[in-house]
Amino acid sequence: MSLDGKIGIVTGGTGGLGLEIARELARNGATVIVTSRKKSKLKEVCNLIDKDCYGFQLDVSKKKSLIGFIKNISKQFNNVDILINNAGFPFVRKIWFKNIHDISERELMNILEVDLIGSFRITKEILKLMIKRRNGVIINITSTPAISGHICGSPYSIAKAGLISLTKHIALEYGRYNIRSYSVALGDIHTDAMRRSLLKSEIVKAKNENSMKRWGWPEEVAKSIVCLAGGNFTFSTGNTIIIDGGKVII
Ligand SMILES: NC(=O)c1ccc[n+]([C@@H]2O[C@H](COP(=O)([O-])OP(=O)(O)OC[C@H]3O[C@@H](n4cnc5c(N)ncnc54)[C@H](OP(=O)(O)O)[C@@H]3O)[C@@H](O)[C@H]2O)c1
Repeated sequence: MSLDGKIGIVTGGTGGLGLEIARELARNGATVIVTSRKKSKLKEVCNLIDKDCYGFQLDVSKKKSLIGFIKNISKQFNNVDILINNAGFPFVRKIWFKNIHDISERELMNILEVDLIGSFRITKEILKLMIKRRNGVIINITSTPAISGHICGSPYSIAKAGLISLTKHIALEYGRYNIRSYSVALGDIHTDAMRRSLLKSEIVKAKNENSMKRWGWPEEVAKSIVCLAGGNFTFSTGNTIIIDGGKVII
């Protein structure tokens, strides 16, 4: 699939899913802008991708950082064709297993600030560039608990459910500008972050919860995203695409 001439941003693009998505966009011809909070990671990742790749520092939870990022990319690029809102607050066991009545407002806000408000902030600025060009695709990385709920981890589900609403609003408000948007709701995807945070027993349990009886691979997610961002999915917008091996089927 050719993404030749397209410019795509991947937030949190220096590791895990973000890195794989950035790689796949570049493999398909796009110029890729990866972001990280850590400057040191950016050069390394751009060397690894070894195509048209540019690294910019960005903390989506800080308005000042976002303003600086937009200023910097606007100097270098005239437009942005693809935005992948992938940045996500790390999985913290202590917060994840709490029920609602034990969750502090700070814990809730920390997660919302990155996954939801951070995505809203950058989307708002990138939409301004996309409207001018009357072209764009915005993909929000969300998660199946946003659809089905979960027995714990409510701040995460709430943040990711908000992203599904953001996707629908982008589709409805900006379809007339040829701007499409999708939510990609992921099940258990075998990234370093997931491997690090789960116990062995939890890794096995998660595998057995979907109909394919396996974990998904970051490469599978990245290929689906390239499909959505490319020229073969052009009369569809606002949808949630579930990639979870057949656990949540709607
Ligand atoms: N793996 C799964 O099974 C799974 C399932 C459902 C949904 N997801 C979602 O998929 C996305 C990627 O997950 P992953 O497994 O690849 O985890 P990950 O490796 O921890 O990736 C998350 C990325 O977000 C970035 N990030 C965190 N806080 C940020 C902030 N304040 N500003 C900007 N960037 C920030 C981090 O980049 P830096 O540290 O470099 O800044 C990191 O690379 C997340 O949104 C996650 O919720 C994953």
